Amino acid sequence: MRNLCSNYFYFVAGIIFLLLAKVKHSLEGYKTPKPFGVSEVDRCVEYDIRTVNEWIESLDAYVGLPGTLVGKNVLELGPGSDLGSGLTILSHGAQSYSAIDVNNLIESVPMQFYECLFDRLQKENPDLDANVLKNELMAQRQGVSDRLKFHCRPDFNILDAVGEGKVDVVFSQAAFEHFDDVQRTIQDLSAGCSSNAVAVISVDLQTHSRWIRDKDPNNIYRYPDWLYNKFYFKGTPNRIRPYEYKELFEKFGWQDVTMRTLTKLDCSRVEKEAPYLADAFRADKSEMGSLSVLICARRSS
Ligand SMILES: C[S@@+](CC[C@H](N)C(=O)[O-])C[C@H]1O[C@@H](n2cnc3c(N)ncnc32)[C@H](O)[C@@H]1O
Repeated sequence: MRNLCSNYFYFVAGIIFLLLAKVKHSLEGYKTPKPFGVSEVDRCVEYDIRTVNEWIESLDAYVGLPGTLVGKNVLELGPGSDLGSGLTILSHGAQSYSAIDVNNLIESVPMQFYECLFDRLQKENPDLDANVLKNELMAQRQGVSDRLKFHCRPDFNILDAVGEGKVDVVFSQAAFEHFDDVQRTIQDLSAGCSSNAVAVISVDLQTHSRWIRDKDPNNIYRYPDWLYNKFYFKGTPNRIRPYEYKELFEKFGWQDVTMRTLTKLDCSRVEKEAPYLADAFRADKSEMGSLSVLICARRSS
């Protein structure tokens, strides 16, 4: 009885959160990619450096070689609030960094953020010439950098942004779950990549609205498509599950596609909640215990 009541409660509460998210988006647009604002400079710098370190660790472990990034052309999908990850990637020896996003959030980053980032990168690597990074940032702002590029494209057309066969390494963090057409994104990405490219992508599969995300991480999966889609706005979590990502990467010529669960929901809770999820998410293959995953894949050469 208690289980029934709490599931009923979260069903109703989730609809209220979906409605609030839609209203907020229609009033303000997409503004807060991180759980904190870019004015919290130290936290943002810390977040970007940690994210890049985790990507590099996963990339090196997947490829089986340290220093894989050196000399590579990197593409990030959905960088969010700033170019911190791009500059950090260049500081690790990448040849170039490009990012593509449907939102231009990087325009309003305070210069103080980048100064703090350069200080941190310099402290971590005393051999680094931070002036090289500063010059790239200035050139990027004037639209003349070859090594640091940001493409804001409402159509999210990867091929038009980067061209064919140019990308060696793909990174993305908590962005794929927002893409409108994941199949087309992976298809275009595949064409934009070189024959030996590697992708390291983390996907946040949980409900995104604060509060309910902690209480009921799988809340968005309670609703059938017809109901969930009533609250659609550009960027709503697309509810693509890990097995679907694997199928899509394989379909477009990627191999050794691995999925690692990064955050898990307790098995007994998954079992208890399963009868209250929409039909499409009840089967074992949906792996509802996975709250976030890391996808690694390589192009078949
Ligand atoms: C949660 S943020 C993550 C940003 C950054 N990677 C990070 O970890 O802070 C999601 C990213 O996806 C982008 N995004 C949102 N809706 C999108 C859409 N429909 N198509 C492509 N990108 C989208 C956002 O602009 C943002 O950069």
